[in-house]
Amino acid sequence: MKNILVTGGLGYIGSHTVVALQQAGFQVYIIDDLSNSHLNVWEKITSITNIQPVFYNIDLKDANAVNVFFQSHEIDGVIHFAAYKAVGESVEKPLLYYRNNLLGLMNVLQAMDDYAADHFIFSSSCTVYGQADEMPIHEQTPLKKPESPYGNTKKMGEEIIEDFVKATQKNAIALRYFNPVGAHASGVIGELPSGIPNNLVPYVTQTAMGIRECLGIFGNDYDTRDGTAIRDYIDVNDLADAHVKAMQRLLDKKNQAHLEFFNLGSGTGSTVLEIVHAFEQANGIKIPYEMKPRRAGDIVQAFADYSLAKNQLNWQPTTSLQTSMQTSWKFQQQTEK
Ligand code: WQD
Repeated sequence: MKNILVTGGLGYIGSHTVVALQQAGFQVYIIDDLSNSHLNVWEKITSITNIQPVFYNIDLKDANAVNVFFQSHEIDGVIHFAAYKAVGESVEKPLLYYRNNLLGLMNVLQAMDDYAADHFIFSSSCTVYGQADEMPIHEQTPLKKPESPYGNTKKMGEEIIEDFVKATQKNAIALRYFNPVGAHASGVIGELPSGIPNNLVPYVTQTAMGIRECLGIFGNDYDTRDGTAIRDYIDVNDLADAHVKAMQRLLDKKNQAHLEFFNLGSGTGSTVLEIVHAFEQANGIKIPYEMKPRRAGDIVQAFADYSLAKNQLNWQPTTSLQTSMQTSWKFQQQTEK
């Protein structure tokens, strides 16, 4: 049985990936500092798979703690989710983001080098493309300076990993997510932002719940079919499946380069209004909204060409937007809020 370390494994995409890894037969170790996740997700994962992952509350900025972990566990592969991810906060506190996201990454990579863990998957983001000139976006699309320090930590992270795997002859895959949405079918785990949600769908579900009074739509004067911005919304369960397939590719040594990049998206662009209407139709709930000025740093449109992941990882999205809207709502209703 292969041992996989999942950093940030109690977070949104991390927890769904832990479930998928366990169900694929991997032994999973979680490191999480609980700065943007909840300890009860550990027992929720266990309740879904009936397998309790090993969990350590470690801050990855503490190199000594990271080394102690690697000294006492034989780790075959690492999936690295742990990072701060609030775009707006990163603009206000850039050093907090560079220190946390990059020092944490480097401590994990250093430990992998010191303790012979050979396979690494990096949670990256379509934000590295900035506002791409052409749609759909493919992996050869030229990168631009991301709109935020958060996005820059993803771009710099990829560059750090590239230099690391070339120097150490290890193997890595960077998965560039578009917009993750949805929740586990059980409704037990899902996206649980702390405070006021930055992202669209959790704001929609909290509005549906009455926690938020009204959804603000940031800009309806974009050059799109209804004036609101376009994104590619990809179900979190499909993302989890892609991580398992990517790790298997590395373990089977099928990778064709020391660092490979794959876009993970649905391939379809949806406007903000189309997402609101999709949620309303999927759940039979009216969402009150009002138009607001554009949000600083937002791009107009992004949607993925995922053909490389389809061909190389044998992966494709299988979850409909309607299902993602239903599972998001089911999770919100089951969450003690
Ligand atoms: C989507 C659209 C908003 C909230 C960011 C990161 C990306 C990833 C996902 C972490 C935009 C609009 C939103 C609201 C709105 N990060 N919106 N009202 O900004 O595309 O991507 O989060 O995993 O790396 O860049 O996602 O959900 O914030 O916004 O109108 O209350 O919804 O303007 O057009 P974004 P988002």
